[in-house]
Amino acid sequence: MKEVRPAERQSTEPPATIARTAARQAAEEAVDRERSRIARELHDGIATDLAAAISLFKAYMEGHPGFGKQGGPDEILADVFGILERMLKQVRETLAELRPRPIGPEGLMGDLRIQADEFARLYSIRVEISSNGTEDMLPPQQREVVYQVVREALTNVRRHSGSSICRVKMAFAAKPFMIEVSDEGRGFTATPSGGYGLVGMRERAAGIGGRLEVVSTDGRGTTVFLFGPN
Ligand SMILES: Nc1ncnc2c1ncn2[C@@H]1O[C@H](COP(=O)(O)OP(=O)(O)OP(=O)(O)O)[C@@H](O)[C@H]1O
Ligand SMILES: [Mg+2]
Repeated sequence: MKEVRPAERQSTEPPATIARTAARQAAEEAVDRERSRIARELHDGIATDLAAAISLFKAYMEGHPGFGKQGGPDEILADVFGILERMLKQVRETLAELRPRPIGPEGLMGDLRIQADEFARLYSIRVEISSNGTEDMLPPQQREVVYQVVREALTNVRRHSGSSICRVKMAFAAKPFMIEVSDEGRGFTATPSGGYGLVGMRERAAGIGGRLEVVSTDGRGTTVFLFGPN
């Protein structure tokens, strides 16, 4: 297995400043990942169960037109129904707050360039960006998914690949749009388990009717493809 070592650091900043910035960025990323994990657990666990309980209740109510009348035998059940509805609303609000970091004022490409600059400065990983078309060719929801997928793919390159080069191709004008993030690092063969990144990217892609493909060969790098909806 060939390991690509990052090139020597080129930065003119003092090492202590670089280490502090890198530590802060790593801490922010860890917080982002943890927030996403909690959001997924809330969504797939409590929110799904509550929604199921509420729809069972509704089905029951439809079959019992006098359900929940004051002083009637179902009054307590009607109160339980109200509590369940409030709980679901609260969980949804919490989920909205846990949403991952949104695209900044620089826009998708602007944020990507800032990140590329940080990768070069802090980790000696050269990120080459190319694009065809412009980000405003994509509706906001798709742009958001592109942003989150590229962020996670870049984080994986930094954490796992050992590559000193990463290419990001943004084909906004293609139909469907296509985004590619590739490295020349150690790659992987077996489908690894335990992480949330790849699963999350797949879910995000599916959420907009698109799909994610990962091509990786042991010792020969990894490419993540994100295809937009047809
Ligand atoms: N670019 C890459 N180069 C080498 N290995 C990779 C690359 N991307 C992913 N992997 C492998 O796939 C695994 C799963 O990635 P995934 O993003 O799902 O989880 P993670 O990065 O380990 O954890 P998380 O993203 O939840 O913090 C990684 O642990 C790593 O072994
Ligand atoms: Mg990851």
